[in-house]
Parts: sequence; C-alpha cells; structure tokens
Amino acid sequence: MASLAPPRDLEGRVAIVTGASSGIGRAVAILLARRGAKVIATGRSRARLSQLTDWQAGIVPCVAELSDPTASDKVFAKAARHGAPTILICSAGIPGYIDKPIATQSFGAWRASMAVNLDSPFLMSKAIAPVIAAEKWGRIVYVSSTAGEAGAPSMSAYCASKHGLIGLMRSVACDIGAHNATANAVCPGWVRTEMANNDARQEAEARGMTVDEIWHEREQGYPGKRVLAPEEVAETISFLASNAASGINGEAITVALGGRW
Ligand SMILES: NC(=O)c1ccc[n+]([C@@H]2O[C@H](COP(=O)([O-])OP(=O)(O)OC[C@H]3O[C@@H](n4cnc5c(N)ncnc54)[C@H](OP(=O)(O)O)[C@@H]3O)[C@@H](O)[C@H]2O)c1
Repeated sequence: MASLAPPRDLEGRVAIVTGASSGIGRAVAILLARRGAKVIATGRSRARLSQLTDWQAGIVPCVAELSDPTASDKVFAKAARHGAPTILICSAGIPGYIDKPIATQSFGAWRASMAVNLDSPFLMSKAIAPVIAAEKWGRIVYVSSTAGEAGAPSMSAYCASKHGLIGLMRSVACDIGAHNATANAVCPGWVRTEMANNDARQEAEARGMTVDEIWHEREQGYPGKRVLAPEEVAETISFLASNAASGINGEAITVALGGRW
C-alpha cells in the first residue's frame, strides 16, 4: 500500500535542524521538508549532508561544528537567506558511551559533551528568540533522552546535559510563550541510529557479546519488544513543530514505546 504524503502544513516556514546528517535529525529534516518547510540542515560532514540534500527537495545543507560557539551565527546567517527561521530542532548530540565512571571522567570529556549537547542549544535558542518575537510565531524542540529523566551509570556528562536540556526548555518556554510560540523536548528511548549502534558495539566488546545480542537485549526491555526507528521520533518532533501542537508548551515528552531507562 502506498504511504500517504504528509500534509504541506509547514509551507512558507524556515526550519533549522541540527544533527541533520544522521539518525533522528536526518529523519526530522526529511519530514519537515516533506511538510513544506525550507530546512537548514546542519552537520559536520558535507558528504553526508549532500547525500540528503541531493534527493530531498527543500533542504539546504549547512556544515557547522557546533562545539564552536560562533556556529549559531553562521547557521542563522545562512538561514536568513531563505526567510525568517521560526522553527528550531536541536538534535545534534555527543553520545553517552564515551563517558567514564565519575571518578575517572575527565573534565575535557565533560566540557566536550556540554558544548554540543547544551551550550549549542542555548546559543541557538538565544539566536532564534528575537526572530520568533518579531514573527509572532515559533517552535523549538530539543532532543533530550530518557537519560534526561533518570540517571545511568558512567554517564555523568550525557545525563547532566540531557537533564539540562529539559531545564533550558522549561525556561525558554516561559520566555517565548507570549509570542504564539512553544518550546518542548522529546525524550527518546533506544533508537536504531549510528550513535546507538556504536554504543552497542562498545557494550558488546566489554561484555563479550555480539552487537545483535545487545540489540536483542535492548528490545526485550520494552513492552513492544522492539526499539524505535528514527522516523517514529521524527513524527513526534514534527507534530510539536506544527500549528497543531499550539497548546503544548514546556513539556518533556517521552517517546520510548512505554519503556523507561
Ligand atoms: N539513538 C538513540 O538511541 C538516542 C536515544 C535518546 C536520545 N538520543 C539523542 O538523539 C540525538 C540524535 O542522535 P542520533 O541517535 O540520531 O545520533 P547520530 O545518528 O549519530 O547523529 C548525531 C548527529 O549529531 C551531529 N553532531 C555530533 N557532534 C557534532 C558536532 N560537534 N557538531 C555538529 N554536529 C554534530 C552529527 O553530525 P556529523 O556526524 O555529520 O558530524 C549527526 O548529524 C542526540 O542528541 C542523542 O543524544 C538518541
């Protein structure tokens, strides 16, 4: 059966999606473009962004290293060539599997994680807020994690940054709410992406198991006995980015098949 085309309800909107070269961000960029938005897709890899933009109309590639605090200026300057950006999706992230137990976690690793997972969403939010105020409409969605709702061993930087994103979101929701605008977060459980697969590879090595066995174990942790596809998280994000979600502001929405961390 042919799948139905999504509604073109974002026609005329300009959206910035970070981490759009892969995984959840990539699925969001595709869906927002299919819904009519002009999407400024950021990532570090020009080659991976080109693969995306070559076949999906409406997506503009924007190479940006988000640990650089000036990256938001560059991204917003590029977006401005296509209109006023009023949708911001922060999906780029540094994974938790590079963290160490707290006693051996380095300050450098902590800072590297914070720079991309938390500083960049802060700077991007700061840049979009005046545009949203001027346009009297806006949507911000932060990709947190179930690790933003509960602790996990050997994951201080990842957990803290993902909890921090929810705090940032709740404050931004208050700041932009008067402008017909919303800020929300999604907290996915395991999603089959490059990041999660690298994590599985590392865990498999540490525990003397295969990568498939690790994924099987993860699947068993959810009532539906499966993990998420990036497109399922993208559907929730694109709903939050639409007019239809006008009544939802300041919420952290768990997208985890009924499972928890
Ligand atoms: N997968 C999961 O199970 C899961 C669960 C909960 C939450 N999340 C969150 O979901 C978000 C997306 O993760 P994903 O699973 O889709 O991972 P992914 O497929 O590995 O994608 C990560 C994206 O982040 C970008 N990125 C990483 N470091 C960057 C940097 N320094 N500057 C600019 N861009 C950078 C990558 O760009 P390039 O590689 O092109 O440089 C890539 O586009 C992350 O915030 C992650 O924490 C994932």
